[in-house]
Amino acid sequence: MAKPVFIINGPNLNMLGKREPQIYGSDTLDDIRVRLEGRAQQLGLTVDFRQSNSEGELLDWIHEARDGACALIINAGAYTHTSIALLDAIQASELACIEVHLSNIYRREEFRHGSYISKSAKGVICGFGAKGYELALEAVADIVGHDLAS
Ligand code: DQA
Repeated sequence: MAKPVFIINGPNLNMLGKREPQIYGSDTLDDIRVRLEGRAQQLGLTVDFRQSNSEGELLDWIHEARDGACALIINAGAYTHTSIALLDAIQASELACIEVHLSNIYRREEFRHGSYISKSAKGVICGFGAKGYELALEAVADIVGHDLAS
């Protein structure tokens, strides 16, 4: 059985739908998960979609991904801009990692312009809202060699 793509979401992303919808859109994280599971099926992939507000739990999941996942898609929320530990964990996973942000972090406050995890990412997708996760999944399908169906 093929390994799933781990889709890991960091702090405050459980608040999507309620949280600053003018920035993050009105979809809940569950709406995004359901859409991604459908898209994954079309692409011949499976996804394991998770969210935590705890940096330690995110680290444990990235460690788990090393043997348990075929690739990583990560929206690390604010830890993007602060966490060398997440960078190190992604590095140690030796997996292709796509970094996703709903908002265009470069149009926002300067403290959001830097990302530690970009240094370990194969690519970065930001500014396309929830669609960014689907774009990331298509990139993963390409990288892991599945057919890009419709
Ligand atoms: C975010 C951008 C981060 O700066 C912010 O802290 C988030 C969400 C995004 O998806 O746009 O929590 O990662």
